[in-house]
Amino acid sequence: MLPQESLSEEVWELRRNKPGEGTTTPSLSKLTEELDVHEELGDDGTMHACVLPEERVMSFGEVLLAEYRRKRRLEFQKMFQLEKGCKLGSNWGSIAHYVIQGCHTGTVLRTSLGLPMLIRRPSLEEFTLFMKRGAAIAYPKDASAMLMMMDVTEGDRVLESGSGSGAMSLFLSRAVGSSGSVLSVEVRADHHRRAVLNYECWRSSWKLRSGNEWPENVCFHLGDLINPGPLLDGQSFNSVALDMINPHLALPAVVPHLHTGGVCAVYQANITQLIDLMEGLRCSTLPLACERIFEVQYRDWLLAPSLKKDGSFNQRRKSPEEEAAESENDNDERKGNHRSPAHFPFGSVPYIARPHPKQMGHTGEL
Ligand SMILES: C[S@@+](CC[C@H](N)C(=O)[O-])C[C@H]1O[C@@H](n2cnc3c(N)ncnc32)[C@H](O)[C@@H]1O
Repeated sequence: MLPQESLSEEVWELRRNKPGEGTTTPSLSKLTEELDVHEELGDDGTMHACVLPEERVMSFGEVLLAEYRRKRRLEFQKMFQLEKGCKLGSNWGSIAHYVIQGCHTGTVLRTSLGLPMLIRRPSLEEFTLFMKRGAAIAYPKDASAMLMMMDVTEGDRVLESGSGSGAMSLFLSRAVGSSGSVLSVEVRADHHRRAVLNYECWRSSWKLRSGNEWPENVCFHLGDLINPGPLLDGQSFNSVALDMINPHLALPAVVPHLHTGGVCAVYQANITQLIDLMEGLRCSTLPLACERIFEVQYRDWLLAPSLKKDGSFNQRRKSPEEEAAESENDNDERKGNHRSPAHFPFGSVPYIARPHPKQMGHTGEL
């Protein structure tokens, strides 16, 4: 749910025009004028319509996300750790961390330049996108397809390689839960360290935000999965996720430890790498069948009321009959240009609806 202050001016306008609500809900611009720098926007009592009794306020040490939106555009988004004596800086002004501490997630605070900044806890998806990277991550859209493909369930034991930056490890950690476990193998020491740091960062932030321990169910191992030595001796896995170069070379070591009927999902950025994988399978005697090769494509859409340059709504073109009927009822309404949003009945505003100009490029295929 969005905090009330992040609602658009049109929504506030509609609310003002609702019988019985008009005088109690100030518009965002009104609030902006009234409040001092760093004051919470919710002093009018409209903040946090729904705060669960057990929900904790944001505290020092937590990882948080700051967002500033202007009109329909996300102008600024930054993940940061809340620390004593620090400031969140941006081109849109700064906020001292001590002001954020003690607020509920989803609070809108004023920056030093008077602009409203939403401060909230990141989802796991957002954390993985913003966390520091050693290697490129398995993108959340692809990671969720892999989890589905592998049919990962609570209590599963999963093998993963390489750990990279630890994004997939975190998604697997959540999927297998406290009764399951993940063995994550990484050949590069710097990537191994980064994955462990990211995992620990999420865990400690989780403890602060929820009061509960995030399961310590990932074992990060520094080593080469192509020559694992005794690492896998006596181990068996419900499924395997490979996001590494030359995955076909790791299969002879891995497949004997995969449960019968288990899935090994392979994530690669280039289709030529998948050709090598298929060729590796063709030349091997491993009991594996390639079930499926696909790419996950998301298409972001822009869907919003069509506006004129001055910010007022465009209107659907009316038929001559409608125009005539309307002019009998209300001469002013026909002008339409400066009417408040409440005067545009349901269905009267045209929308722009088209693929968003900014799309995510190719990430990889499975
Ligand atoms: C694209 S990254 C993995 C990203 C990871 N899935 C994530 O979500 O953060 C590939 C990683 O595989 C590691 N790697 C490559 N060959 C390996 C091998 N033989 N054994 C273990 N790790 C390997 C690389 O060092 C690199 O860190």
